Amino acid sequence: MKKYKIALIKGDGIGPEIIDEAVKVLDAIAPKFDIEFEYEELLMGGIAYDITGDPLPSETVSKSLGSDAVLFGAIGGEKWDNLPREKRPESGLLRFRKELGVYANLRPAVVYDELVNASSLKPEVVKGVDLMVVRELIGGIYFGEPKGRDEDKGYNTMVYTRSEIERIAHQAFAIAMKRNKKVCSVDKANVLDVSQLWRDVVTEVASQYPEVELSHMYVDNAAMQLIRDPKQFDVILTGNIFGDILSDEASMLSGSIGLLPSASTGDKVGVYEPIHGSAPDIAGQGIANPIATISSASMMLRFALGEIEAADKIDSAIKQALAEGYRTQDLAAYDAKEVCSTSEMGSIIANYAAK
Ligand code: IPM
Ligand code: MG
Repeated sequence: MKKYKIALIKGDGIGPEIIDEAVKVLDAIAPKFDIEFEYEELLMGGIAYDITGDPLPSETVSKSLGSDAVLFGAIGGEKWDNLPREKRPESGLLRFRKELGVYANLRPAVVYDELVNASSLKPEVVKGVDLMVVRELIGGIYFGEPKGRDEDKGYNTMVYTRSEIERIAHQAFAIAMKRNKKVCSVDKANVLDVSQLWRDVVTEVASQYPEVELSHMYVDNAAMQLIRDPKQFDVILTGNIFGDILSDEASMLSGSIGLLPSASTGDKVGVYEPIHGSAPDIAGQGIANPIATISSASMMLRFALGEIEAADKIDSAIKQALAEGYRTQDLAAYDAKEVCSTSEMGSIIANYAAK
């Protein structure tokens, strides 16, 4: 029997509902693969602020570091938007990423065949899309110094060091080796000095991966190409803020932001979370789509725990649920045979996964 300690951070808004469904699916597959999960719930985000006065209590960091993986829901909401910056849920999240050292954020965008009609783009443009955005997560303009603002001036600094670029580039090339062996590095090297260094270092790292085809693209063109012909991409390697923007854009290829998972990894413990936010407007109604979170649990099994078969099992259970026409509200208009609630969708996937 293999035992894994999973830190659960449910967070705010729909976070608790979707994490509960992912746990349901994990528990459903556990006996099949001779696994035991031990969960520990930790506070973060608005709820952590309400209870402790800090959006990221130190215990959340220490206990996360002591776990095998972190499964994360979502944080934030209007209620906390007017707090001073360091008390806001988002500041807690950024500190959390930094403390855990999760520099590599992997955001796949996959179009399920069953949902080609759900995309706002034409089916022939999106059918078969399967790309991975590899976003640098703990550097760049999000963290660069100097930064600040006064009455008349606000400023942030985009900084990357050679070693920061090297380590994220290695991740992207290693991932590409397991996929279609193509990396497109996205930057703004026609304008930014930091991007010129980025481009040079990525090109150097590429020489260690002769089988991988490297291309470079300016970020404005990449934003356009993602809509024009998303199938040209395999792995997109980019910095923090470009990756933030492009991964939201890529997510819409799939039809619903409620479908896509992510992994944030570094040299310590990894964080697995849906790419969508806390959606306070629909919280507590039982209509959120739990698939992104269930799929994040699958990424956790695959990347953090090495439980590949269990991960495959969950992925095929998700596909089966979609193929059978089960849809949550967000996808009700697309070939739905039955519209189901958050927890019904969790149970359906759990049942398929347990078979
Ligand atoms: C994301 C989010 C975060 C980010 C926010 C909530 C701080 O947009 O994970 O993409 O900008 O990184
Ligand atoms: Mg974002």
